Amino acid sequence: MREVLRLFAAMGGRLADSSPMYGAAESVIGDITTQLDINRQLFLATKVWTSGRESGIQQAEQSLRRMRTRQFDLLQVHNLLDADTHLSWMKDWKAAGRIRYLGVTHYQENSLPALEKYVDSGQVDFVQLNYSMAERAAEDRLLPAAQASGVAVIVNRPFADAALFDRVKGRALPGWAAEFDATTWAQFFLKYILAHPAVTSAIPATRNPKHLLDNMSAGVGKLPDEAMRQRMLALVNAA
Ligand SMILES: NC(=O)c1ccc[n+]([C@@H]2O[C@H](COP(=O)([O-])OP(=O)(O)OC[C@H]3O[C@@H](n4cnc5c(N)ncnc54)[C@H](OP(=O)(O)O)[C@@H]3O)[C@@H](O)[C@H]2O)c1
Repeated sequence: MREVLRLFAAMGGRLADSSPMYGAAESVIGDITTQLDINRQLFLATKVWTSGRESGIQQAEQSLRRMRTRQFDLLQVHNLLDADTHLSWMKDWKAAGRIRYLGVTHYQENSLPALEKYVDSGQVDFVQLNYSMAERAAEDRLLPAAQASGVAVIVNRPFADAALFDRVKGRALPGWAAEFDATTWAQFFLKYILAHPAVTSAIPATRNPKHLLDNMSAGVGKLPDEAMRQRMLALVNAA
């Protein structure tokens, strides 16, 4: 994990997204980024994942300590759990400078309408949702809604939890991927997402430093235009 975070920062990576749901992840990020002295370079995001106002506040206080920061760049309501309750005290924290931006997250397509309600309400700065070449429902309404309201979009499950790699297993990357500077399937899948005009950031998960280097390379060079994105989809859907 230390090497993954070191390389991430060295390559210009910024957004580190955690949650109290992910075991010791918040403490690991806090400890390693402090040791490497990269914590000020990162955009630190985490989530509240509990019910009730007092419980949410206590959990966020604990997350601040674990991530070794006095301010979250982004605090999100994880999986919309008790979202109205949490957004109310989170707004006060934002006004007090303890949070820069507020958000809501989910990872399942059947929750996209609920996320859209928060985007339309004007209460959130960020929405985090599942979107990939294998899970495209967000294209219908939520991504256009976020774009229209100026709400930033973080994409989780960009490889559909590695299912996309299984889909193209044994197949060579097409030569035309060079037209948008993709040299691997991971870059192909990520550039499809990053080329959507509503998308702010994608957060592929990896424990592997080689995969980290691969994924970070998707952030440089050309992106596919819409005609190319349709060609990419046709190829992956035929696989
Ligand atoms: N409700 C929520 O807020 C929510 C829900 C789900 C996920 N998330 C967030 O989204 C992030 C990503 O989602 P995810 O973990 O479900 O799925 P994902 O990023 O779509 O897929 C992760 C899988 O892809 C593999 N992988 C990564 N880079 C690769 C590469 N270059 N080549 C080949 N394989 C590669 C990883 O294995 P290796 O480790 O071996 O690289 C891992 O098995 C999570 O870390 C989490 O922060 C949020």
